[in-house]
Amino acid sequence: MKKIFLGITGASGALYGKKLIEELSDKCELHLCITPDGLININLELEADYKSPSDFIESLDVKATLYDYKNFAASVSSGSFMVDSYIIAPASMGFVGRAAGGISSNLIERCADVAMKERRNLVILFREMPLSLIHMENLTKLTRAGAICMPAAPGFYHAPKSIDDLIYFVVGTIFDIINVQHNLYERWEG
Ligand SMILES: Cc1cc2nc3c(=O)[nH]c(=O)nc-3n(C[C@H](O)[C@H](O)[C@H](O)COP(=O)(O)O)c2cc1C
Repeated sequence: MKKIFLGITGASGALYGKKLIEELSDKCELHLCITPDGLININLELEADYKSPSDFIESLDVKATLYDYKNFAASVSSGSFMVDSYIIAPASMGFVGRAAGGISSNLIERCADVAMKERRNLVILFREMPLSLIHMENLTKLTRAGAICMPAAPGFYHAPKSIDDLIYFVVGTIFDIINVQHNLYERWEG
């Protein structure tokens, strides 16, 4: 079973994180971390009132290992813990800046740092618009260091009918990158 690390930060797009948890927990060994600002956005965007990340995870009734965002002693904090792919979704531009600067101020940033030093798969689903030069330079730096930076920007050529269709398209694209089978959207056949 693949080991996947998912970090959820305080960018808009809590639904991406939620869908990734629901889908990945079935298919992989899922390791999870959520920043305090990530939880604020989860509550705002899902119209909920979770008191803690574990409250949120329990509500989903999924199998996952959740780490405190300041727990640098967690197994995933070390390169010796073999993770197949690291996903940060949604990723704030604060995260992008700190990761590009090598600043591991929390467990998610540390995991991104580990992924890059170990040359492992790192997918960063960032959400911001418009982008400043600083954002673009940070994203370039992360790309040069091996990360795959994806804007949270669904396509529309599959004729989406609902917000779920848009979310599935983006999550399915992440699954393609990390090589996890899915039926989240219909592939283009021209
Ligand atoms: C409602 C709301 C929406 C936000 N949306 C974004 C966003 O889309 N992109 C972004 O980079 N930051 C966004 N932010 C700001 C981040 O939450 C903020 O920079 C935070 O410090 C990120 O912290 P973290 O990376 O530790 O989670 C948003 C904040 C709030 C309260």
